[in-house]
Amino acid sequence: MSSPAAVIVLAAGEGTRMKSKTPKVLHRIAGRSLVGHALAAARGAEPAHLCVVVRHQRDLVAGHIAEVDPDATIADQDEVKGTGRACECGMDVLPADLSGTVIVTMGDVPLLTSDTLLGLTQEHESSGSAVTVITAELPDPTGYGRVLRDSDGAVKQIMEHKDALAAQQAGGENADAINVHEINSGIYAFDARVLRAALAEVDTNNAQGEKYLTDVIGIARRDGRRVSAHLITDLWQTEGVNNRSQLSRLGGELNQRVLQKWMLEGVTIVDPATTWIDVNATLGADTTILPGTQILGATTIGSEVTIGPDTTLKDMEIHDGASVIRTHAELSIIRENASVGPFSYLRPGSDLGAGGKIGGFVETKNATIGTGSKVPHLTYVGDATIGEHSNIGASSVFVNYDGVNKHHTTIGDHCRMGSDSMYVAPVTVGDGAGSGAGTVIRKNVPAGALAINVAPQRNIEGWAASKRPGTPQAEAAAAAHADSEQK
Ligand code: UD1
Ligand code: CA
Repeated sequence: MSSPAAVIVLAAGEGTRMKSKTPKVLHRIAGRSLVGHALAAARGAEPAHLCVVVRHQRDLVAGHIAEVDPDATIADQDEVKGTGRACECGMDVLPADLSGTVIVTMGDVPLLTSDTLLGLTQEHESSGSAVTVITAELPDPTGYGRVLRDSDGAVKQIMEHKDALAAQQAGGENADAINVHEINSGIYAFDARVLRAALAEVDTNNAQGEKYLTDVIGIARRDGRRVSAHLITDLWQTEGVNNRSQLSRLGGELNQRVLQKWMLEGVTIVDPATTWIDVNATLGADTTILPGTQILGATTIGSEVTIGPDTTLKDMEIHDGASVIRTHAELSIIRENASVGPFSYLRPGSDLGAGGKIGGFVETKNATIGTGSKVPHLTYVGDATIGEHSNIGASSVFVNYDGVNKHHTTIGDHCRMGSDSMYVAPVTVGDGAGSGAGTVIRKNVPAGALAINVAPQRNIEGWAASKRPGTPQAEAAAAAHADSEQK
């Protein structure tokens, strides 16, 4: 397929209906901003030039574009309004002698694909048209520009909704335009030279007092050039986001498309209705996703992995054969055949070795846990390195913070650490060492040693009877004594 000479993405509009401090095109669905989706679709068509026209909250939008597509050129729209002016400002940053096909898209139409843009380019070029418009048949065309065709099917004119209303009042030739259901998607292919020359002629004599890009069509026709429509049936690809309701509707549809792609790649998704996968995540074959799971950001998941139910993963790396149940995990690595959860919390920088375990009610942060090592129950592991095949007893805390600074704990290989041990960092435990239950480890433990520092237990006999007389506690103690005397 042939690639266009340039793509211009229009993103200068205000988006007031979002009622947001954030510019509309920076709102996100499926883990990517709206303008990020537009750029990804444009980039996929491999244009020689790609530019984005900005104005509203210019620095925020331009800064974001520089992050997601550093090779895109920013064009600033001036105070003259309208899609025609926006496009003209885009043309101004492209080479003056540009020839070939220029695609114009919008920053707020996130489901449009690269394939559709390539199909448009191909049809435009093979039909020899000066302009080709992507159109769609909508049950309710309110608000859209209406596509008026002539008897041989060529596009005669695009009439904006407000202008079609005015024409209906006035009667005459275009009185019926308001009832046309074929709409202008706002996505076009133009011959570069025709576009540049026509934009210079477009004026602001219309219901909105703006320079309409759609007026280029009338000018091209006047000069005897052909204008075609490229009707597409996948209406979602032409839908724009104007408010938060459309944002969630399109976000939901995009998610279903992403899930569909992964299911066809061999991933089992038990409940697509409650599963969310961002566009940048990747999954391997024979992986199973259980209900209530969100796989976000740049998460990569291998093969034969089980995720969920009720799990959120963000920017995670999960290797083959691992299982992650009822977990919240971010910016961490879970290696081959390791298991996590239920009810685990992996904060950034956790790295669980192959075959290792992070169990129920365990929180980890900046912690490397070696191959085969286990942290099975009720534990906080922060700023630590644990070697291979070690076991951390239940209810332990890696005491990493002294109130001012964070410190590191190192534990060796094949250690058997007791339950309820506190590791007061910085501290090191050698290979093959262990600790008794309830040990507060403040000093390094040499290899092979057992650390214990709990005081010997002392029992004060009869304490309940003398200090808590008449309470259920004292009565239970008395009954137990009577019982044992009878035996
Ligand atoms: C436009 C089309 C209409 C089409 C509809 C599809 C024109 C005159 N009308 O109408 O036929 O049915 O899109 O959604 O083109 N923009 C700028 N600068 C501006 C104005 C707009 O960059 O000065 C950008 C916006 O950010 C947006 C896009 O252009 O991405 C469309 O603008 P919008 O105002 O929504 O156009 P519509 O009036 O909906
Ligand atoms: Ca619009």
